[in-house]
Amino acid sequence: MRRKLAAGNWKMNGTATSLSEIRILADAYSAPSCEILICPPATLLARMAEAVGTAPIRLGGQDCHPNASGAHTGDISAGMLKDAGASHVIVGHSERRADHAEDDALVCAKAGAAYGSALVAVICVGETETERDAGDTLKVIGTQLAGSVPDGATADNTVIAYEPVWAIGTGKVPTVAQIAEVHNDLRNSLIQRFGGETANAIRLLYGGSVKASNADDIFAVAHVDGALVGGASLKAADFAPITAALDAS
Ligand code: PGA
Repeated sequence: MRRKLAAGNWKMNGTATSLSEIRILADAYSAPSCEILICPPATLLARMAEAVGTAPIRLGGQDCHPNASGAHTGDISAGMLKDAGASHVIVGHSERRADHAEDDALVCAKAGAAYGSALVAVICVGETETERDAGDTLKVIGTQLAGSVPDGATADNTVIAYEPVWAIGTGKVPTVAQIAEVHNDLRNSLIQRFGGETANAIRLLYGGSVKASNADDIFAVAHVDGALVGGASLKAADFAPITAALDAS
């Protein structure tokens, strides 16, 4: 049985005043059946860990460097994220792939660095609108999955997030049939590579314009084990109903 996961990605948003949102969430959750993860900017991780206290909210980074330490100005290692209170790290988000020209090999190395620091890697894949229109969605995602997921992936150290680039921050959401097709394909690719036992335990998230009003439909899709939520994770009032929908699914 895969435990559902509601993950919030704050991206480059949030300062000390935003900690009030996490306090609201921490007060709201007593024993959610789903796992809850918030990935704030790295500058807030340690303070957020303090604000969360013993509440059932996990924290994650949004990226990490493949190396453990060294002369990499501006970068953050997986070990540093762990030290600041993270248990997870997002790698290969399409905004990193686009803004920083990250390819699958680099994403794979980052996921490996996450494993090395005992962080769960949330590995993102997703097609652009042009790729979808060309009928290349499954091919593109298959290539990203094969190249971005390390050989050592297990259900304990890896979550896969399917995030169509054209659905991120746009309000456009794929049809449930489109989500189902990709998630089914992801599951089958994982089974081929890692075998049924491991592959069937790895959680597959959907991400891209998830909000309270579409959460029920998305969470009803087979092989959708939760969501990676951007904009609607910034305010507790928007995120809490999504986690409630996941709990109820
Ligand atoms: P969005 O972002 O929910 O704002 O579309 C999702 C993501 O990029 O993780």
